[in-house]
Amino acid sequence: PVLLALWAAIGYLLGSIPFGMVLTRAMKLGDLRSIGSGNIGATNVLRTGNKAAAAGTLILDGGKGAVAVLLARWLGAEDAAQLAGFTAFLGHCYPVWLGFRGGKGVATFLGLVLALSWPVGLLSCATWLAAAALSRISSVGALVAALMSTAWMLLLREYEFTGLTLALTVLIFWRHRSNLERLREGTEPKIGKKG
Ligand code: G3P
Repeated sequence: PVLLALWAAIGYLLGSIPFGMVLTRAMKLGDLRSIGSGNIGATNVLRTGNKAAAAGTLILDGGKGAVAVLLARWLGAEDAAQLAGFTAFLGHCYPVWLGFRGGKGVATFLGLVLALSWPVGLLSCATWLAAAALSRISSVGALVAALMSTAWMLLLREYEFTGLTLALTVLIFWRHRSNLERLREGTEPKIGKKG
């Protein structure tokens, strides 16, 4: 239990690094909170107009989810890998450094799923891409990819991870409450638009 708590803390600390905030500040792209949705994720970083910063945010926010899982695995704590991924996700959504007002967890989710099962991770990324390409809306890509991730886990017989993907899907929907509201109203902006 002490070791599990340690991995939970490591995952949380990794996940709580708000790369979108760090990069936009370092590159002097303005205050993310007053741009677009006010979110700290790659989709909102793209609304600054800087594609490199958005790509960097996506990779680093995804990377921290993957690193949390892989670190636990590499250091022999296989049973803590899911926990570390889960707390990395929580760290991104509820970072202590930002008064627990964090992001929506999508990139971190894709990163940790890739690390747990790369085939399911690739299918989930492809699902995001397909749904986002069809709708031109980032949140639609996220919600469809989250929902489908458990189906991909089942299809590829990765049963041990289905509890985690289900829980994360619920949390992702919860974090997208304002997006769901805008989708209902028909006011959710297309990718790259200020909204
Ligand atoms: O990953 C977050 C995305 O699904 C929505 O971002 O900024 O449009 O709320 P945003």
